[in-house]
This record gives sequence, structure tokens and C-alpha cells, in this order.
Amino acid sequence: MKIDTLTNHPPTVTVAVDNPPLVAPIYQSVKFTFDELEEAQRHAQGAREGYAYSRIDNPTLRQLELTLATMQDRTHCVLTSSGVAAISLALQALCKLGDHIIVFAEGYGPTRAVARRVLSRFGVTHSILSIEDLAGIEKTLKATPTRLMIFESPTNPILKIADITRLCELAKANGCLTILDNTLAGLHAHGQYPIDVFVHSLTKYANGHGDVTAGAIISNAELMKTVRGEVLAMGVSLDPHAAFLIQRGLKTYALRYERSCENALAIATFLESHAMVESVRYPGLKSNSQHALAMQQMGNGGGVITFDIKGDESKANAFVQKLKLFKLASSLGSTESLVLPPSMIQARDLNTEQRLWAGITDRSIRLSIGIEHIDDLIADLQQALS
Ligand SMILES: Cc1ncc(COP(=O)(O)O)c(C=O)c1O
Repeated sequence: MKIDTLTNHPPTVTVAVDNPPLVAPIYQSVKFTFDELEEAQRHAQGAREGYAYSRIDNPTLRQLELTLATMQDRTHCVLTSSGVAAISLALQALCKLGDHIIVFAEGYGPTRAVARRVLSRFGVTHSILSIEDLAGIEKTLKATPTRLMIFESPTNPILKIADITRLCELAKANGCLTILDNTLAGLHAHGQYPIDVFVHSLTKYANGHGDVTAGAIISNAELMKTVRGEVLAMGVSLDPHAAFLIQRGLKTYALRYERSCENALAIATFLESHAMVESVRYPGLKSNSQHALAMQQMGNGGGVITFDIKGDESKANAFVQKLKLFKLASSLGSTESLVLPPSMIQARDLNTEQRLWAGITDRSIRLSIGIEHIDDLIADLQQALS
């Protein structure tokens, strides 16, 4: 072989099955070949296992999908290129022309944007309700046949806890599917509830290191047939290298999540007693009206805190500006602590009544708590509040 042929057909190196690597390699290959034409054809017809093209399936992606599905106490998972893609594709896969869905004022804004901007163009209508208004949810479900509701717990950014048992009961009784965006609570949480579909931003706690954008849709076999087909049709797959980094991040997922919750509880307690703080929203605090529900459902308060500073927006902005360790950045669930000022967590798509439900004021500040030493984090907050 000439060099230019050899470099395009390098020697094959095999690893014996009794001599595996401890960390699975990245299958950074778009294509998988078959020695026999007949086997390639059988694979194409679904008559045998295997891989052909990484947009459709890839061993590195498959390993991560299996890990995530098991963590979430389900059987099936499909990876997407971002958390928003997971939300968008789950909704598009499960809705059709004429359907109605419920979204919530307290939740992540882009979820409502998918309903407003994308689904509406395909004849899917939506209602925006409050996650606390169980009577209103029931009334809507009874008045309007509803295909699905998509909610969060805790909600981002205001950290309300959804009553998952009650929401599932209401949904089931009215033939409505439930989708839980479980990004804030984490992959280990809420699997015990009869939620039909989980969506996650893996960009947050799963990867944890702030260097990958990815999402996942997790469910049981039946619904996933539809969802996987839709994701493949839309072509929103994840790159194997990104999947490898998330799989690597997951090794410390439990430790990171636990530390983040411990730090968050200590910080929420500190903020609650500070003279410059008006109110603290953190479900891990005993004073939080939903503390018992949070403990029952999640067993912790999570790693995000939203609090109102005394004064006005300029005070809130000055505080954010003074922080040194807490970095001014969107996103959450990283190893580093982050902060967002009121103007960057306001939900601009909501009307006046819905804004009241959402509960974000011009003094609300969101903190995503990292895994740094608690003394350093509190010292930073202390100096900025002073
Ligand atoms: C609750 C929630 N869901 C979904 C997303 C979207 O994730 P991504 O940035 O990976 O698209 C976010 C991002 O902040 C989020 O907070």
C-alpha cells in the first residue's frame, strides 16, 4: 500500500473481550462498516443489532443513554444536542394538529417559547397556568381535552415545588400525558412517580463542568418509539465526544450534587438571617412553605437559591457586581457558583397576572451553587452584601 492509501486504511487493532479498557473508548466514527453485504442489509431492515451511522446510533451514545435511563428509573433514553432540543422534540413528537397543552408561568421561559413559537404554527394551542393552582389545572383539563402538560420541580427560577402525585392523578384522570423537566432536581430524583416522560438539560448537573451542551428525553418503551423516531427525523443528535464528556462527568455526579445541596442549604440559611435580605426562596429551608413536600419528593432542597434583596433593582445589580467568586453567567449545575441579576431572570413573555404567579421581582437574584468551599462562598456573599 502506498502511504496515502495506508493512512486512510490504518491497521485494525482489536482488544480481547477478557481485556477490556476500564473507561470505554469514544467511538468517534460517523460510519460503521459490515464485512458482509447481507449483514449490512439485515441491519438496515432491523433484523440484527449493530451500528451503521452515528446520527442514528453510536456505542458511546448508547452507553450514556442506558446510564441515564437507569438513573432516572426508566428503560429508554434518547440524547439531543441541548436541553431545549429535548423539550422541543418531546413536545413535537407527542403533539399533533388540534392538540392542546398546558405549560406553566413559573417554569423555564424557553419551554413556553416552544409552545408559543413552534407548536402554535402546527395548530397546537396552549394554556399558561400556575403550578400551584391545582383547581385551575383540573378545571382546564376538564374543560379542554389536553394532550399533555409539561412542568418542572423545583421550577426555574423561582423554585416552587410541584405536587407531582396530585398532578399525575389529575393528568391520568383526564387522559393527559405528563412531561417533567427534571433538570433542577436531577437524574436521580422523581423516578418513583408515574411521570410519562422526563426531559433533562445535561448541560447542567449531568455534565457538571460547563463544557458541553446536551439534553435527554427519558421514558418507557411505548412512548419512546414515537419520540426516538421524531428525534431521528429532526436530525438533532449528539456528538460522541460530547457524550463521552457527559459520561465522564457522571462519575462525580452524586458527589457534586450532594455538595451543591449542602452548600446551598448553608447559604440559604446565611441569607435568611442577613439584614440586607428581604426573602429567600429555597425549598431546603425549614421556613419554606413547601419544605415538607420537597423533602418527601426530592429528599433535598437542590442547588439553586433565589432571593430578594432589600431595596430596589439598583441594589440588586450593585450586589451582583460586587461578587467575586460567584460568576455572572447564565446556566446552573456547574462546579462553579453563578449569579444572575433580576433583569436576566425576568419572564418577559408573561402578562401581569402570570408575572405575579411567577413571583420574580426587580430585586430577585438567582444563585446556582457550586462545589467550592462553603467558607469562601459565604465570605464572598458577605462582602457583597456589606
Ligand atoms: C429547567 C431547564 N430546562 C432546560 C434548560 C435548557 O437547557 P440547555 O441550555 O441545555 O438547552 C434549562 C437551561 O437553563 C433549564 O434551566
